[in-house]
Amino acid sequence: MNQPARIAIIGGTGLTSIEGLKIVRREVMHTPFGEPSGPLTHGELSGHEVVFLPRHGSAHTIPPHRINYRANLWALRHLGVQSILAVAAVGGITAEMRPRRLVIPDQIIDYTYGRDHTFFEEDLDFVTHIDFTEPYSAHLREHMLKAAAGLNIDVATQGTYAATQGPRLETRAEINRLEGDGGDIVGMTGMPEAALARELGVDYACCAVVANWAAGRDDPGHQITMDEVRDNVSQAMNDVRRLLAAVISR
Ligand code: HPA
Repeated sequence: MNQPARIAIIGGTGLTSIEGLKIVRREVMHTPFGEPSGPLTHGELSGHEVVFLPRHGSAHTIPPHRINYRANLWALRHLGVQSILAVAAVGGITAEMRPRRLVIPDQIIDYTYGRDHTFFEEDLDFVTHIDFTEPYSAHLREHMLKAAAGLNIDVATQGTYAATQGPRLETRAEINRLEGDGGDIVGMTGMPEAALARELGVDYACCAVVANWAAGRDDPGHQITMDEVRDNVSQAMNDVRRLLAAVISR
């Protein structure tokens, strides 16, 4: 390993590669928790070193509930990563979370189940409970918000990310329930990723891209399609890339 990279980007749906990323090398890693989603890409974005990992794999074949979140996070930490910018496609629940808008969420509610969600379960010297009152890194969020303002990118400056199990989308009643709970956006990968980063002491923040209105929030009878999701995410991706580049160059 040369100079350890400090910042990593975890890409989601629509971000399996980063335009403008100069690839230096790809590294296949094995971890005590199994294989990460793919080789870790060491590269340069706007002249700054970064590690890139698409969480669904480079061909987008790993569904949210089958992602090895522990291996991904452990591998990044092992490379010396101290900050993670996570990009994630989400559905918009509340009125201001319209498709193609970027959101820098500040809270999470976890509805996922059956995922390996902690590093703290085997060979423990003592039981550990991490503080997760503020699930995202305050200073990374601040950098993202300042970068967005500097670039004139319209972002929702806060919001609660409801993390669902997937891979199916939600029912209308489930979305109503999530909104009643305080959820603004809904996605399938926000957890346990954020909590595992906290367990490892890595700063973590999310740039969510609203890909569609959540179930029942579009016109009556509207069905959410993958084409719609892909199209909206790809329209927003240019802003995501500009935002990431600005945060990394800070
Ligand atoms: N629900 C859950 N996850 C998602 C959605 C959604 O509507 N859109 C993109 N990811």
